[in-house]
Amino acid sequence: MEDKERDIQLKISTTGLRDWTGDKAKHYNRAESTPYKALDELFKHYQVDDHDVMVDFGAGRGRTSFYVNDRFGIPVTGVELHEQTFDELIINEQHYLKGKSLQFSNLYFEFGYAQKYQIRPEENIFYFFNPFSTAIFRSVIKNIVKSLENVPRPADVILYYPEDDFQQYMENQTPFRRVQTIRLPWEDQNKKKFIVYHYEPTLDE
Ligand SMILES: C[S@@+](CC[C@H](N)C(=O)[O-])C[C@H]1O[C@@H](n2cnc3c(N)ncnc32)[C@H](O)[C@@H]1O
Repeated sequence: MEDKERDIQLKISTTGLRDWTGDKAKHYNRAESTPYKALDELFKHYQVDDHDVMVDFGAGRGRTSFYVNDRFGIPVTGVELHEQTFDELIINEQHYLKGKSLQFSNLYFEFGYAQKYQIRPEENIFYFFNPFSTAIFRSVIKNIVKSLENVPRPADVILYYPEDDFQQYMENQTPFRRVQTIRLPWEDQNKKKFIVYHYEPTLDE
């Protein structure tokens, strides 16, 4: 099924690209949703539990957040910096809730910088579809690690379409360990894959 048809099922609109303009384009990457087919493949191999809580850094129009909330029912927070994209995300949220006849949900959307987002102690899955520069990625990961050290808990970072710099940083400069690579059999571009990194607190923490 096409992405547009999947959108209709969730009563949202998440197709299309949106580039940043001017200097911001050097640091912030464009809005583009993770393909539904790729999300289906990810969750064939990656298990979500009822107690998991996810953050989608650079949520765009929210496709990944809505998909995960709809399929697994877990709380998801999406953080998005682009004003117009954020407005569309909120409209999507209204339609998504209306489609389910809900007034409230466990979906939360925050407008602002991913690097300033205050990680909550219950959050344990952190999703990134190539949203910004390596410098920003590093600062977000540092915030995550600080939170995991303050409130020790197992956690995963999931990267879609990962840049080499992101992988090198995760593998060489963080306590995360690469545990899964989920390739998309229909893609010939080697970069179009998911990498899952896991953090396990040590016993003396
Ligand atoms: C490739 S889209 C990801 C879409 C979504 N995560 C998904 O899977 O469908 C990346 C998004 O990150 C946003 N972004 C870029 N820099 C950001 C920042 N510093 N803080 C928050 N969001 C940012 C962009 O505006 C864009 O909408």
